[in-house]
Amino acid sequence: MKAFRASILDFTGDPLQGREALRYFEDGLLFVEQGRVQALGAYDDLRSELKEGVTLVDLSGRLILPGFIDAHVHYAQTDIIASRGEDLLDWLKRYTFPAEQAFAGVDLAAETADFFCRELLRNGTTTALVFATVHPGSVDAIFAAAQQLGMRLIAGKVLMDRNAPTELLDTPQGGYEQSAALIERWHGRDRLGYAITPRFAPTSSDEQLELAGLLWREHPGLWLQSHVAENQKEVQWVAELFPWSRSYLDVYDRFGLLGERAVYAHCLYLDETDRRRMVETGTTAAFCPTSNLFLGSGLFDLAAAESGGMTLAYGSDVGGGTSFSLLRTLAEGYKVSQLQGYNPSPLRAFYDLSLGAARALGLDDCIGNFEPGREADFIVIDFSGSELMQRRIDRCETLEEKLFALMILGDDRHIESTWLMGECRHRREPTA
Ligand code: GUN
Ligand code: ZN
Repeated sequence: MKAFRASILDFTGDPLQGREALRYFEDGLLFVEQGRVQALGAYDDLRSELKEGVTLVDLSGRLILPGFIDAHVHYAQTDIIASRGEDLLDWLKRYTFPAEQAFAGVDLAAETADFFCRELLRNGTTTALVFATVHPGSVDAIFAAAQQLGMRLIAGKVLMDRNAPTELLDTPQGGYEQSAALIERWHGRDRLGYAITPRFAPTSSDEQLELAGLLWREHPGLWLQSHVAENQKEVQWVAELFPWSRSYLDVYDRFGLLGERAVYAHCLYLDETDRRRMVETGTTAAFCPTSNLFLGSGLFDLAAAESGGMTLAYGSDVGGGTSFSLLRTLAEGYKVSQLQGYNPSPLRAFYDLSLGAARALGLDDCIGNFEPGREADFIVIDFSGSELMQRRIDRCETLEEKLFALMILGDDRHIESTWLMGECRHRREPTA
């Protein structure tokens, strides 16, 4: 048994519904036994439990948070982060498709997958919903890397049978069979889960989308991930490719691809009917602000998503996104909302990275907060990771002010360590 002493914060519900959803111990103690949370409370209340055989890890002066959850990211795009393109479709053609073609090679896939997972941990991300490439070997590589580190991770093979380079195309039947074999091999093994992954409507035929829906119905408990309504030219293209559709989201709806555990990145160009369908079906929107700004895609309407009760999570969307840090991602999301006259709550933002995302992924019985029995995935925040942050924190009077400063100024320098099931899996290099 281990016990961690620090300031400790988590959420038991959506803080926009009431402040009691926030749980904070200025001087707290978190007990972990066999990788799971055993107890959480104030140091003074629980110190008597520090009996022989309990290893005390003293992190006084630091803040423990549940590990961050990245709801949308492409591991094979790690090395093309920060590639200059005109817009989404130009960037996909110039950088993304060529980069993904190289993942036919298993050595590149394995090496990149390992770096990617360690980069997530370095940034405080303990769980991610990940796109691999069209190659089944690329899925094996990311699952093997996550398994090696003991990470909870969901990933899937990209389905794509048209409108991309020939080398990257599968067929409806072939993609279906390869996905089924990967599900058999990986889904539910250790902390891994499988997501059916049609890239986006323009690169799948009707038949492929049909089979994706069939596969999802055949395997209850699987995730589904894709992109929707990211860019205006893309939206126009979808209207031409699927002339019968009412909207872009409607394409997925008609093939039975909306529902709980389905996560759609971007969701920038939705109308009222689309929003209603997202909410009715329990479909999650992944807000990817660094990507939406970088590719010039548009501004996500966070106010509408929150007030409409849409299930929401944040995605780094690397390599369209420009940072692995979900703190950087929150900062950009804040500015995007400010531009639209909406001032988001920092409490809700940190909820969205933890319990909110865990609920969106149907994983809140495993991760997302420090309820007893949950898997002990957490991060240790060190405000003194940069002098400027420490100076700003010294001026803060409330926890909410501190969290706001963390989300606006924070990055990997402030992630001192990252723990999976109570084991340290990343420790920041000592600062000079
Ligand atoms: N739409 C289809 N594929 C992609 C991708 O790889 N990245 C982003 N940002 N959007 C997409
Ligand atoms: Zn994406």
